[in-house]
Amino acid sequence: MAVYLDNAATSFPKPPRVYERLRGYLERFGGCPGRGSYRMAKEAEAVLEETRALLAELFGVKEPRRIIFTLNATDALNMAIKGSLRPGDHVVTTVLEHNSVARPLNRLERKGLIQVTRVAASSEGFIDPADIQRALSARTKLVAVLHASNVTGSLQPVAQIGRMVREHGAVFLVDAAQTAGAVPIDVEDACIDLLAFPGHKALLGLPGTGGLCVGPRTQLTPWREGGTGVLSELPLQPEALPYSLEAGSPNTLGLAGLRESVQFILQYGVAWIRAHELSLTKRLLDGLRAHEHITVYGPSSLEHRIAVVSVNIAGCSPAAVAEWLDRTHGIAVRAGLHCAPCAHQAIGTFPEGTVRISPGYFTPPGEIDRCVEALRDAADELAGHTGRRAIPSSQATAEGVAG
Ligand code: ALA
Repeated sequence: MAVYLDNAATSFPKPPRVYERLRGYLERFGGCPGRGSYRMAKEAEAVLEETRALLAELFGVKEPRRIIFTLNATDALNMAIKGSLRPGDHVVTTVLEHNSVARPLNRLERKGLIQVTRVAASSEGFIDPADIQRALSARTKLVAVLHASNVTGSLQPVAQIGRMVREHGAVFLVDAAQTAGAVPIDVEDACIDLLAFPGHKALLGLPGTGGLCVGPRTQLTPWREGGTGVLSELPLQPEALPYSLEAGSPNTLGLAGLRESVQFILQYGVAWIRAHELSLTKRLLDGLRAHEHITVYGPSSLEHRIAVVSVNIAGCSPAAVAEWLDRTHGIAVRAGLHCAPCAHQAIGTFPEGTVRISPGYFTPPGEIDRCVEALRDAADELAGHTGRRAIPSSQATAEGVAG
């Protein structure tokens, strides 16, 4: 049985009730929501609205219509960035961002449409709110910050940043790709105007699901237009949420699964889930930090991290380590740049990246121990303690750099 430690990419497995619901949905429902007055269509519509209401409860969003369903966090971030910026706007962001924020901003900047200030990070992967404050100007329209780094696992002080951005009058966009479902989030308390989240990571739903919470201070221009099933007589996209930003038949099956997984999360509570995941992370960190040839990146304090741990073995290519873990131990981890090249530049691991280990809610503690043991054996081996060299050195595997 494989050991799955890549929950930062997508969570696996899902809560058992998700699998049951998916099967039940396919067998019994299957109508197109909002597109018919017959029972199957109404039942599908009810699934969507229940999912919206549960997500609103999870994130402290007062009006469920402010939850917009998207394909994933990338889709939500593109909707937020391209829907809010106008020529001449200034954006403040950070060097830690995933390409889903960095690339849309880079393109708009290269076209000469916007100006971007990128705030630096500390070697542990933290943004200093004072640096954000210094970067704000009269033209700053948007501040885009990730809640936690998918490379270092560092949790950013978003509430502190949010209050500062609100006072300044700019729009605050938070990328919760790694935290939605794993860390408590209250959009009101943290003054978040736009919260982008995936459904398939810590929300424990299926790929192809995600969303954007759109606060009352923000008007987004739709970047996807089409059928809404309501107000079809209008020549343009209806202005009311969620229709202004949702067009086309939604992923009802995925959203039916998400309804179950969000209910599961609300039942156990995000605080409890976080405490459990941090106990797994501590087990991992304690095992890896004790080895002199293993470098662990990210925060020294557990309190300011999520269950994402990046490491390297001295003299060893991360891609080769990940390949070896899979081949010899059946352990699945992600190596390389994790679609966040500037984050690796910030912590000094560019261009080869790191080996990223990300336990999830369902990871058995014994699987953490198996991974620790395998990495410690690999590090011993490379240090020449046993004389064997199963993992090629960095130089020998330069072509093995993964994204
Ligand atoms: N963004 C996802 C990751 O960090 C896919 O792995």
